[in-house]
Amino acid sequence: MRSFMGRDILSLKDFERNEFFHVFEVAKELEPIAKNRRNSDLLKEKTLVTAFYQPSTRTRLAHEAAMHRLGGHVTGFSDAKMTRAGDFYQESIKDTVKMLEFYGDVIVMRHFQQGAPHEAAKWASVPVINGGDGWGEHPTQILTDLYTVLQEKGRIDGLTWLAVGDMRMRTMHSLGYALSQFDCPVTFVAPPEMSLTREFKDELKQYNVNFSEADHVEQAIGKADVILVEPVVQPDYTKSRDERKGEVGGTPANYKITRELLGTKAKSDAILLHSLPRMDEIPTDVDITRHSRYWQEAFNGVVMRMALLALVLGAME
Ligand code: CP
Repeated sequence: MRSFMGRDILSLKDFERNEFFHVFEVAKELEPIAKNRRNSDLLKEKTLVTAFYQPSTRTRLAHEAAMHRLGGHVTGFSDAKMTRAGDFYQESIKDTVKMLEFYGDVIVMRHFQQGAPHEAAKWASVPVINGGDGWGEHPTQILTDLYTVLQEKGRIDGLTWLAVGDMRMRTMHSLGYALSQFDCPVTFVAPPEMSLTREFKDELKQYNVNFSEADHVEQAIGKADVILVEPVVQPDYTKSRDERKGEVGGTPANYKITRELLGTKAKSDAILLHSLPRMDEIPTDVDITRHSRYWQEAFNGVVMRMALLALVLGAME
């Protein structure tokens, strides 16, 4: 297996099956630190730089929390408008990263342009972690989701997935690539204007992903062991910021997971994931059903970032 030390985490296309399991093992080993709300000194000599060109609650703060849990330091920006990249100068990724690499030992970047973290990785002498790039990918989120499934179900292979939402979404791309390494049939349900692109479908076929498409969650929920939901009412991920203007409308029933649907049509042990934030695609009364795992997923998001930071910084083999 390739070493993770010094490695960029840009895409789950790059991940081999044994690498997924290795990351999960390291996460499991580090998990007690977060569970017991302790801080260790594993990364006490290291600094994380957060370069966020798009809003985030979970991804940035989970990386920061992970760094704190491992005794490291954090610097960075969460509003590129207050940097030279977001003012008159429109400083390039290259010039920005050539500075950031001296301010820390690993960079996590979220950007509205697909491929921006890959561009950063070309110029940085420190590892770059993709915290979400436009409609591109969100590898650390899907690693978190797979780890959650493994924790909750005890396995990944042999489970049937239902993925609901906007298929242009970066999480869906990372999910498709990740599932190519597992024995997991997946059904995608999306509005026609947000369905899988021809190019992505061709890629999934090339990667031998066992996938199908359906129009309504009711058609696929009965077979699903894992239900992964994303919004269909959401901002434009190619913008640095997309403010809500007036009424945005509700989620059609086809793409909504309600308590009633879970109670009448879902397997009794199906688990429900959502990377969050949500709109109304999972009503809040679903939170207390036995299916919901998104709060556990949020905790696992810290653990997964601990594992990735420890690995790319060479503190764990
Ligand atoms: N799940 C996720 O990416 O959330 P944030 O946009 O808050 O980082």
